[in-house]
Amino acid sequence: MKLRRCAVLYIEPREELAIDWKVVLAGGSALAATTHWVALAPHLDLELRIDADQLAALGALSQTVWVERTVAEQRYGERCVAGLLEQGLLIGDTPQYAAQRERDDTLRATHWRPLSALAHTYGRWRGVTGETGMEAPSFQELLERYGEPPPPTLDIGTGEALKLPPAAAGRMDEQLLQRYTGRNFDLQASVPLEVAARLLQRTFAAQEVRKVGPHSSVLKKTSPSGGGLHPIEAFVLAQRVDGVAPGLYHYHPISHELRPLQTLDSEAAAALARYMLADQHWLSTAPLQVVLVARMERSFWKYRNHQKAYRALALDAGHLSQTFYLLATEAGYPAFITAAINDADIEKTLGLDHLRHAVVAMCGCGPAAQGERTMVELRYGETDAI
Ligand SMILES: Cc1cc2nc3c(=O)[nH]c(=O)nc-3n(C[C@H](O)[C@H](O)[C@H](O)COP(=O)(O)O)c2cc1C
Repeated sequence: MKLRRCAVLYIEPREELAIDWKVVLAGGSALAATTHWVALAPHLDLELRIDADQLAALGALSQTVWVERTVAEQRYGERCVAGLLEQGLLIGDTPQYAAQRERDDTLRATHWRPLSALAHTYGRWRGVTGETGMEAPSFQELLERYGEPPPPTLDIGTGEALKLPPAAAGRMDEQLLQRYTGRNFDLQASVPLEVAARLLQRTFAAQEVRKVGPHSSVLKKTSPSGGGLHPIEAFVLAQRVDGVAPGLYHYHPISHELRPLQTLDSEAAAALARYMLADQHWLSTAPLQVVLVARMERSFWKYRNHQKAYRALALDAGHLSQTFYLLATEAGYPAFITAAINDADIEKTLGLDHLRHAVVAMCGCGPAAQGERTMVELRYGETDAI
């Protein structure tokens, strides 16, 4: 049997702090720090404690060249090698280790920048709820906790400033100036099918399909996209859209179709929205919700092992979100975007592999309830004249 190290591996000296009560009781102040090694490997999606012998073995074994297991055992010891194979930090070439090898091969084949794979894998959430911290503090509470924030803008430059003329009125003003993040969705209201169709088509659909090779094409959308690749896909969670059964769908950006993935009753759809949105009940009531999913395999086909590729995916999602907001505003609706989502759980629900598909954000919209405009505006306080 042969083995090699997994493709992407970072080792963290993790610190644990504890009070040394013996010293405290003796009148001293004693914060005791202990450290141990933690292996972070995106193909495993686990944090694994390793010892100094394992660290040495991982530091010496190649991620490219296969070696005989017996050779590795002679150098690092049988126990050490067996433990690392079991954990999946070493990859074996026999069927016993096929599952770890498949994950490692997927990571290799996707052309991730290793640090981006790390940031992505270990930045995902599972099961975050109100109790685990989603209820955001108000600005007042933040001021009490952290003191004054840095000023709202940079104040730099030397010499006399060039005062610019006022912005002339323009055709986009109505959408730009009325746009706001809604946290006040009307629980009884639904989104008419033609409004949902326009929102999805103008935000996520191909406005043109351009052939770039005998079997390859790129899409032209209303938002820009890094490299013109448009790696972000829209998965729709319909709660109250006229003519659409509550459930999960994939929105196909060329055929302009909602392709069913899972039908749900209204209650289950509402519960799923809330769970996906990490308990943000002020957003989960929006009748039309969209999960933005980046296909790394599409982006990294061009941007192989690229420092900026992962950042570009988030930028793409941001552009789509603003387009969605403006179209929602045109329809008379507030909208929302959030990255505070249980992305690892959403992957499971949608059957996605986090190494190939990143759940980046969720957005949504729908008619507002009468009354106060948003919860958050109250939290911000009075508006200052500019
Ligand atoms: C990247 C991003 C993440 C956001 N996350 C949340 C969120 O988790 N929960 C929420 O209620 N609003 C979220 N928002 C909305 C902001 O709170 C909102 O844009 C901000 O308060 C300004 O209000 P406005 O959009 O009405 O101008 C997010 C906005 C952006 C751009």
